[in-house]
Amino acid sequence: MGKETMSRGALIVFEGCDRCGKTTQCAKLKEKLVDEGEDVELVKFPDRTTPIGKLINSYLQMTEELDDRVAHLLFSSNRWEAMELMKKKLKAGTTLIVDRYAYSGIAYSSAKGMDLDWCKNPDVGLIQPDTVIYLSVSEEIASQRSHYGGERYEKLEFQKKVHKNFLELQEPYWEVVPGDASVDDIHKQIHSIVRKTINQSKSKPLLKLWT
Ligand code: TMP
Repeated sequence: MGKETMSRGALIVFEGCDRCGKTTQCAKLKEKLVDEGEDVELVKFPDRTTPIGKLINSYLQMTEELDDRVAHLLFSSNRWEAMELMKKKLKAGTTLIVDRYAYSGIAYSSAKGMDLDWCKNPDVGLIQPDTVIYLSVSEEIASQRSHYGGERYEKLEFQKKVHKNFLELQEPYWEVVPGDASVDDIHKQIHSIVRKTINQSKSKPLLKLWT
């Protein structure tokens, strides 16, 4: 077995509309996997701590206006700036739980009317996830959750378009998990999917997204 395929960590991505419960589920999953002795870390996009991330944060909080294309490319750059470190960690055996990835970039930008293929291009070549957990929750329920409406995209009609776009981006390695059940039931379902993924990914090479 070559070095590249020696017991690597899995890349687990969570996707969904705003307030679908991703962040809660990411934290619960991490806690459970750590209890089971896994080496696991959380990653979140946008990463609002980098200089690019700070600009994205101002844009989302609507204190900064940007051309739609510029905003889209910044979100993508924010992922690319994390790629080398993520690759290193995965190869060293760390499983990464990622809260939003390229699919968010495309689903949100194309909901503004931008061309889907144009939106896809900048993220071609990122590390391909081993599993994408898509938390599917009705926009009506999401909109009733606390803090909804504070940021740029948290509007009901917009979120409906985002949801539709996400479903168009589904790949064979996606798992759609209904997000309207109890937090614990959703967690159990996700954990069983992820356990399988971690075991199956160990000997697989890392692939490049959409290549
Ligand atoms: P968050 O609430 O998960 O921090 O995400 C911030 C917002 O940014 C959310 O409305 C989704 C949006 N977004 C994009 O428009 N493009 C992207 O590439 C990412 C990662 C998020």
